[in-house]
Amino acid sequence: MKQRATWQRTHTCGELTISHRDQAVVLNGWIENHRHHGQLIFLDLRDRYGVTQVVVDQEAAGLAAGTFDTVRRLGAEDVIAVHGKVRARDADKVNKNRSTGAIELVATSVTVLSEAETPPFEILDKVEANEELRMQYRYLDLRRRPLQEAMQKRARFVTAIRNHLAANGFLDIETPILTKSTPEGARDYLVPSRVHPGKFFALPQSPQIFKQLCMVAGLDRYYQIARCFRDEDLRADRQPEFTQIDLEMSFVEEHDVLDLVEGTVVAGLREGFGIDLPQPFPRFDYEEAMAQYGCDKPDLRFDMKLIDCTELARRSSFKVFQGAVELGGIVKGLCAKGAAEQFSRKGIDELTAFVNGLGAKGLAWAKVTPTGVEGSIARFYAGEAGAELIAHMGAVPGDLLLFVADQKKVVHRALGDLRLKVGGMLGLRDASVFRCCWVLNFPMFEWHEEKARWQFAHNPFSAPVDWSIDDFGQDTANIRSRAYDFVMNGWELGSGSIRIHRPALQAKVFEFLGITPEQQRANFGFLLDAYKYGGPPHGGIALGVDRMVALALGREGIRDVIAFPKTSMAFDLMAEAPGGVSPEQMAELQIASTAKKPG
Ligand code: AMO
Ligand code: AMP
Repeated sequence: MKQRATWQRTHTCGELTISHRDQAVVLNGWIENHRHHGQLIFLDLRDRYGVTQVVVDQEAAGLAAGTFDTVRRLGAEDVIAVHGKVRARDADKVNKNRSTGAIELVATSVTVLSEAETPPFEILDKVEANEELRMQYRYLDLRRRPLQEAMQKRARFVTAIRNHLAANGFLDIETPILTKSTPEGARDYLVPSRVHPGKFFALPQSPQIFKQLCMVAGLDRYYQIARCFRDEDLRADRQPEFTQIDLEMSFVEEHDVLDLVEGTVVAGLREGFGIDLPQPFPRFDYEEAMAQYGCDKPDLRFDMKLIDCTELARRSSFKVFQGAVELGGIVKGLCAKGAAEQFSRKGIDELTAFVNGLGAKGLAWAKVTPTGVEGSIARFYAGEAGAELIAHMGAVPGDLLLFVADQKKVVHRALGDLRLKVGGMLGLRDASVFRCCWVLNFPMFEWHEEKARWQFAHNPFSAPVDWSIDDFGQDTANIRSRAYDFVMNGWELGSGSIRIHRPALQAKVFEFLGITPEQQRANFGFLLDAYKYGGPPHGGIALGVDRMVALALGREGIRDVIAFPKTSMAFDLMAEAPGGVSPEQMAELQIASTAKKPG
């Protein structure tokens, strides 16, 4: 029979309650805190599960010889084993904020398992040390409760996702990390090959091609919690390596994928974070999302849609409005409910500067009063015209109306961002409220100004909405793809599409994108070949795990929910990676560096 060593814990530091009163137990953990009161020393002992107060009483009958002196010398972060007896705390000493707050452990002996040097920063819930130092000593940073919470909830979330997908017939399939470039639009991380001198693997930007091949292989439902690698400029919501819930399904249409993913996300957020998402998630056509919210990732925590006023503006005596319409532009407005009081002249000037920064020429505004409107456009909207405008905007006295007149693209951009800004200022973007939606039928191609040619908007494998299309050269901007995005609180958390499964159409898309037959062969020859042997209609999606966890926990950026993240310079401060390699390694790989300053 296996025996527990005497120092080993019988319980965790988060487990003991009043029901354990008078029991002899052993705890293991880190000293979070020690307070000396003459013959009494109080220790807070911490592990992943919680904190338990330990009392070391010099006068206590059962205290082993030498223990008090040992404890007196202990410091923060020392690792110890405590033998003792559980005692109920006096009513006035109960700590309601702790699961173990009703008891304390009266030590009979303390064993030091490991002594800690003074850490470079205090392990506090609240961040005090600067981020660089914390990233350099990430293992200490990870001891802090907010990070412990993030790791635990993230793991619970991923487990719930796995369970849900497995229950729905998905197979967890690993795809290669050492592979070839995949077309997600970022730069590749390359790995030189020793056995094939001069050749390089690329780390996958996503498992896209392999998951499609899984469908050709008849695996029917694939998923993977996949690590992806992209060498791109970093922001708070981007890391050079990140994790996707990646999945693909055969013989499906958009709504099959969306329904399945919706159920998966609901289960994951409920079990991982206790968040109950209202269902069904609204599904918007891309055009509809742009028209109503001015962007393709609507934040549905609040209403305040963009209201089209073009027809009203056409008849207006206000030159700015009328002129914009005459030039083929549009006029749209926002109605900020009850916001008239909150925005002073200065406040509105700031909003005007904000939309100017987004390319708008100005911001027309009006405050709705019991008798009409006042503000920059009041002169033009007196009497009946004003009443008509108020009715059109669905406004009541006390509301603030904001308008932009310009070309459609500018109006949507300016008002889309203004909607978010004003919504934030009015407290309508509550971080504890979660609203999801789907956006479908994205444009298939985007015009790339610098390259002066069309590029794929999602990826080159997305099917066009109209399968009969045989000339992409015509009305290219209006070709829609069967691509969709999953959006939560205004964040794009996932993208996917129904794929092209006919090789002729795929070749045509590549050709239109300026990918020559030679390049097609070299890069995707195996994929094009695969479809020659019977590819099922299929589609899928990838959801960003890091972004979803960060949002669910209300964290600033995804670094706060990744165990060992990189800096915004794509550097690992703890491991000091990337780092230089020896001349021998370089020679073996038959590569040389032309960097001016060798690493
Ligand atoms: P896409 O490139 O849109 O699609 O990525 C899907 C989701 O992955 C997350 N994501 C990131 N998270 C953190 N750091 C990054 N650098 C980063 N880049 C992307 C986002 C994003 O919505 N193969 C396709 C999916 C498909 O078509 O099935 C793909 O990778 O949350
Ligand atoms: P002006 O006629 O330039 O004095 O502008 C009157 C009001 O219209 C001001 O509040 C401007 O910010 C606003 N304005 C000017 N151009 C536009 C525009 N293109 N769209 C919306 N408002 C505008």
